[in-house]
Amino acid sequence: LVSSFSRIFSTHSKIEMSNLEEAKKLAAYAAIDNHVQSGNVVGIGSGSTVVYAVERLAQRVQTEKLKISCVPTSFQARQLIIKHNLKLSDLDITPSLNVCIDGADEVDSNLNLIKGGGGCLLQEKIVASCAKQLIIIADFTKNSCKLGDQYKKGIPIEVVPTAYVPIKRKLESRFTGEIDLRMAINKAGPVVTDNGNFILDWKNFDQTLNWENVNQQLISIPGVLCTGLFVNMAKKAYYGMADGLVKVQE
Ligand code: 5RP
Repeated sequence: LVSSFSRIFSTHSKIEMSNLEEAKKLAAYAAIDNHVQSGNVVGIGSGSTVVYAVERLAQRVQTEKLKISCVPTSFQARQLIIKHNLKLSDLDITPSLNVCIDGADEVDSNLNLIKGGGGCLLQEKIVASCAKQLIIIADFTKNSCKLGDQYKKGIPIEVVPTAYVPIKRKLESRFTGEIDLRMAINKAGPVVTDNGNFILDWKNFDQTLNWENVNQQLISIPGVLCTGLFVNMAKKAYYGMADGLVKVQE
């Protein structure tokens, strides 16, 4: 699977947006059809691929009279659930989920993930940890051999705002690479997450690190709330392919 992707990646810049959108939709529809049944509590991830997952859920509620409750992982996910008239729940009401469907920024050959490109990592990790299965949906550009091969924006780390400078210094002294405070697109200030926190993006990291150990080291620093490293969490990944097929990694 990995080698068949390398040719596609080398021409990534030439990939048409419409192909990527079609690939996202293929993955999302396949995952919803294979993993969601009536009576389920479903975690709704964040990002552009999840839009198609919610669209498919809404279709199935209409046509099959599927009965589901949805737990959002972000303000965006909550808005999507409301817009499609799906039943909105939360972790107070439904703390155990059957499945969580979410996107990813990169998936390695062991199903370890980088998430949080959209800044929703903390709630995504909490909701995924409450689900029996985390199912990833993505276009074909997200599949990778090693973390950092494809995704160059770094590993997101959500931090308490007052602690971002000491955390940045600690990370710079312990690891190779660069640590950048994520700024708003207009550079007027830092990105503030749904939880009121800042994000540090760790770029150009050593790709041979043990991600489980690294994640433990990072979350042991006071003020670090969550990392975008999702290690041993995903059960399967669905990739929409350029040729219109769906590939499954498990
Ligand atoms: C947001 C996320 C998203 O799931 C990730 O960025 C993938 O998004 P997209 O489906 O738009 O590629 O982790 O925090």
